[in-house]
Parts: sequence; C-alpha cells; structure tokens
Amino acid sequence: MIIRPRRNRQSAAIRELAQETHLNAGHLVQPIFLVDGHDIKQEIPSLPGSFRLSIDHVFTEVEECMQHGVKSFIMFPAVPEDLKDKEATYSYAADNFYLKAALEIKARFPECCLISDVAMDPYSSDGHDGYVENGEILNDRTLPILAKMSVAQAEAGFDILGPSDMMDGRVLAMRNALDAAGFTKTGIMSYTAKYASAFYGPFRDALDSAPKAGDKKTYQMNPANKKEALIEAQLDAAEGADFLMVKPALNYLDVIALLKSNSNLPIAAYHVSGECAMLLAACRNGWLDYDKAMPETLLSLRRAGTDVIITYFAKDFAKRFGSI
Ligand code: PBG
Repeated sequence: MIIRPRRNRQSAAIRELAQETHLNAGHLVQPIFLVDGHDIKQEIPSLPGSFRLSIDHVFTEVEECMQHGVKSFIMFPAVPEDLKDKEATYSYAADNFYLKAALEIKARFPECCLISDVAMDPYSSDGHDGYVENGEILNDRTLPILAKMSVAQAEAGFDILGPSDMMDGRVLAMRNALDAAGFTKTGIMSYTAKYASAFYGPFRDALDSAPKAGDKKTYQMNPANKKEALIEAQLDAAEGADFLMVKPALNYLDVIALLKSNSNLPIAAYHVSGECAMLLAACRNGWLDYDKAMPETLLSLRRAGTDVIITYFAKDFAKRFGSI
C-alpha cells in the first residue's frame, strides 16, 4: 500500500493540519426571544436552556455572548394575544416593545449585528405569516404590511432584516420600501428555502405563534423538493437579498450544498428549535454526549457549505469550545 489515509490521522497535530472545515464564534448567530416587561426569564419547556427574556436580561445575554465572540443576534418578539390583529398592526406601532428594545440594544452594543424577523405570525390573530381571508393566505395583500414592518425595523436600528414569511416578491417589496425611506445600508437575510417543517414546534411554543387554523403548506416549501430551492434562490438574489438562508438545517444539508454551489451570496442555515430540542433530549437522557454531539452537529453544517449558522447553541459553543 503506498496510499494510507490513516497517516493523516495519527496525531492531533497532523489531524489539525489536514482538517478541511472549521467553526468559530464568528460564524454563529444567537436567537433571542424577547418579552415585554422587567426581570422576566422564563425557560421554554420544549427547548431547555432557552428563555423568553425581558430587555434587562437580553442586555446580560448579549454582553455574555459578545465576550465569547458571538456578535450576531436574531431577535423574535413574544407578543401578548390582545395586541394581535388580522393586519399585524402592532408590528410597526410606535410603542412596539420589540422595536424599542432594538434601539436600546444597538445604543448599548453598537458593534453587534442585530437581525430581525419579518413575518406577520407573531403579531397576527390568525397566527399566519401572511394576511388571511376566508382561510386563504393572500400574497399581494401581505407585501405592503411586510414593507411597513421593514421600514419600522430599519428605523429601530436593526442591521439586517430577516423575512421568514415565504411570500412571493417580499424581498423586492422590502428593498424598495427600505431604499425609498433612505435605508440603503440595511441588509436582507432572506429565508430563501424555508420548508413546511415539523421541527418548528418549540419556537411556536416560545412565541405562542402557532397557526389558529390550517398549516403553512401553501407558502412554506414542500420538504420533498430541492430544485424549487434554486428558483427561490434566483428570485431572492435578483430581488436584492444579501444572504440566502436554508431552514431547517440538518435535514436539508443537500439543499445547503446546492445553494452554496449555485450562488455567490453567503449561505445561512437555521438550525431550528426542534433540531436543537432533539439533541438536548437525547443528551438529557444520557443517550448522547452533549460535548461531542453538539460541535459535531454544527461542524456538519459548515462542511455542507454553510457560512452563517443560526443556532440555539451559539453561546454555548463559543463558551465551551471557542473554535474547532
Ligand atoms: C416565523 C418563524 C418560525 C421560525 C422562525 N421564524 C416558525 C414558523 O415558520 O412557524 C422557526 C424557528 C425555529 O423553529 O427555531 N415566521
């Protein structure tokens, strides 16, 4: 045998020289669930280790993450039921606690990157990402609402907006509205290939945002489809997206690899709540070793071609490992 692959695996130093993929805190985005009020820290039962936080606790969380090199955050609001309506008007209301929190976070931590969520569901009395009429999600009726929400979020200081709604034409509608309002520097990280997945359960528990009727299959993608992700990617790039996202992540590594090889834009993957919950459940049962399974999972996303990983393990990875 003249070729022996094991030669490159014989010591930690040699393995490091031959390592193809790396992961560090700079690749990671930490999600934050925000609630209105003071001194609130409620653990999400289906996602142990993640909390609904009031702004005072968010400051502590952001500071701790930044100390460990995680500088990017994606924030979602848990909106009280009485503030929800069919038009999601609270999403751009002047006294919206989510927008006020963004202003305060950016004032305190100007060097952080704050990413928003653009979709109607946290604010919608129907619990859908778009406007509902007679049980139908109306695409073009939703776009102006998303555009208004986007301008309000840009005014609040979000660096990057994250449309997670899967309406057709939303990136262009947002880009046009942002540019018309002078926010040419505000970026868009589009949820390009967002699948109608069973793995969003703990997130919907955290925000109380599950659809009141029906499901999201008329706007989120069919998990059976891959080529359709290329159509979405071409549209998002043409409409001015700055990042393309695949969501969920682990069951869709093939889609991540496909977008990476077909686009020059940075590719993000959302390692969603249900995917993190599965791993936590097995570790809490003693069936998997968290310190080994968690980094291996995140590394697999990098290997598939992910540039930016959104994961509930971001802070924990940075604290425990720093980089691998
Ligand atoms: C809603 C939104 C969802 C997630 C992010 N934005 C849920 C959904 O589409 O129902 C899920 C994230 C997660 O599960 O961690 N627009």
